[in-house]
Amino acid sequence: MTARVLALDHVGVMGGAELSMLDIIAGLGADATVRLFADGPFREALERRGVDVRVLPMGALGDVRRESRGLSPFAALAAWRLAGVVAREAAPARLIYANSQKAFIVAALAARRAARPVVWHLRDLLGPPHFSALNTRAAVTLANWRAARVITNSQATADAFVASGGERRLVRVVYNGVDAAPFDTITNEAALAIRVECAPGAAFIMSVFGRLHEWKGQQVAIDALSQLPADCHLCVVGAPLFGEREFEAGLRAQTERLGVAARVHFLGFRSDVAALMRATDVIVHASALPEPFGRVVVEGMLARRPVVATGAGGVREIISDGETGVLVPPGDAAAIARAVAALRADPMRASAIAQAGATRARRVFGVDAMVRGVRAVLDEVIG
Ligand code: UDP
Ligand code: GLC
Repeated sequence: MTARVLALDHVGVMGGAELSMLDIIAGLGADATVRLFADGPFREALERRGVDVRVLPMGALGDVRRESRGLSPFAALAAWRLAGVVAREAAPARLIYANSQKAFIVAALAARRAARPVVWHLRDLLGPPHFSALNTRAAVTLANWRAARVITNSQATADAFVASGGERRLVRVVYNGVDAAPFDTITNEAALAIRVECAPGAAFIMSVFGRLHEWKGQQVAIDALSQLPADCHLCVVGAPLFGEREFEAGLRAQTERLGVAARVHFLGFRSDVAALMRATDVIVHASALPEPFGRVVVEGMLARRPVVATGAGGVREIISDGETGVLVPPGDAAAIARAVAALRADPMRASAIAQAGATRARRVFGVDAMVRGVRAVLDEVIG
């Protein structure tokens, strides 16, 4: 069978969008081939799942940032050239599926030449504060003009698209799904061993998971830790995936300044997130800006740990405050510290919240439902 879907993504590293796409593509099986605009671990992970994947370098298009005010002539030329390559690659397929904003721009430019419809899987909250007005307008205009459908990872992402001028009739919400299996297979002994190894001497551990970036709010989690007793430690799990080295250095300096360096453990990028979460007492999601969805929130719930999360964006569709987790305002370190201290003081409540969260995550955020949701949209377009 020829693959009906040509799937595109512009990055080679493993962000949440890529982890999600990995499960979707694996779910589509022989129905999808993948072209990436950068090489890296994402290509390797797709290959391990038996996916037909190749890299088409993006040249100067790689220099464009979320806050950029428009495309430079070099970037525009690179996008146009790449669109020509993509149009040729799309010839055997019935549809182009774009998993990132840059991939969508290229797909939209390729659509007419390829005479193929484009589905954009939008995973970002368009508009300020995440994106410049110009960047948002360009993306929304292209979407209204060229996208056959826009799949969003939450209602919040859908609403931001529409508020930015996107046409609501194009939108289909499909929540992220996360595989529960890795969370169910960690033994208590394994979790204990990780605790001792990662946070020696800690009586209570809170952990924050995600790439290091100011909007992901690791600085807020560190501030919160400094307001908690000395036997409470913080594990910071994640790496600067897109070159945020200065931010990382700033976090380390912050721990020194606050006198908590010995209680904050920077673990870098890990591929054993499930085990690390099981080794933790409370999962903290500290995003300083609204999160479009937040896979880490669902993962904390799957790990049967209470999750304290920023109550904005897509997270409000995942957690119901006080029932399946605890919500705090964005950027509010004192509120995180209070919520963590309260969970520590009341283990019965903490465990009830964790259990309710685990049940909800399994019911609503499964991989099968996500793959079915995406497939339904693609079928709707292909006919
Ligand atoms: N993650 C990981 N290793 C790390 C840190 C994060 O595998 O060291 C994973 C995490 O488990 C989650 C994803 O990266 O599945 C981040 O996705 P999320 O939706 O939370 O945020 P994004 O980075 O996509 O904005
Ligand atoms: C994006 C968003 C994140 C979401 C992920 C998967 O990277 O920042 O909130 O969970 O995509 O859709």
